[in-house]
Amino acid sequence: MPVMPTLERVFCRSAPWGVFAGRVVLPWALAGAALEGRVLEIGSGGGTMAAQLLTTHPGITLTAVDPDPAMVVASARRLASFGDRVSVRKGDATGLPFADGTFDAVVSFLMLHHVVAWEKALAEAARVLRPDGLLIGYDLLDTGPARSFHRAEGAQVRLATVDGLRRVVGALPFRTPEVRRRLGGYAVTFSAYRAGP
Ligand SMILES: C[S@@+](CC[C@H](N)C(=O)[O-])C[C@H]1O[C@@H](n2cnc3c(N)ncnc32)[C@H](O)[C@@H]1O
Repeated sequence: MPVMPTLERVFCRSAPWGVFAGRVVLPWALAGAALEGRVLEIGSGGGTMAAQLLTTHPGITLTAVDPDPAMVVASARRLASFGDRVSVRKGDATGLPFADGTFDAVVSFLMLHHVVAWEKALAEAARVLRPDGLLIGYDLLDTGPARSFHRAEGAQVRLATVDGLRRVVGALPFRTPEVRRRLGGYAVTFSAYRAGP
């Protein structure tokens, strides 16, 4: 199971990332999409995005899943004040411990590249979404700087291309997929709705 190197794990739980991710990155990644009902965040890290989602979407309940025990502890602590609106558990996005059609939305922020078999994570997102449920998120693209950064860290990652993501999402039971190159080609945003039964 690939887990992030120490530098990224510390950064992911840091206060500056918390503020920037919540105030700037989350609205950019959601691009106005309304989340409702039962939301699953895969690769939830220190719970930064989850905290902001719960604050800005008072109608949702959120399940946060991450395979790294340190992240689970950190996010459980960060999200404790949301009470029974949130549940944090250890889990792998490539084999989610939930029944088919459990969630109204699945969100994936900056985590797919850490999932080497990210096709499986997207397939699992499709499986646990109800018909018409929304998959939405963003990630880094396969670029020289992203490769160098992760190589320097000794991280095991597999960065996606826009075409690769489009191919994979397009082959899964989703409708109206949107996969967009962003930030000068360094990042990608994606969204799609689960096709009907
Ligand atoms: C860069 S952090 C992003 C955390 C959070 N989404 C955020 O935006 O702050 C990537 C996270 O993906 C998690 N991760 C790595 N492999 C995973 C997998 N197979 N399934 C779910 N999460 C995974 C890591 O443990 C880490 O917490």
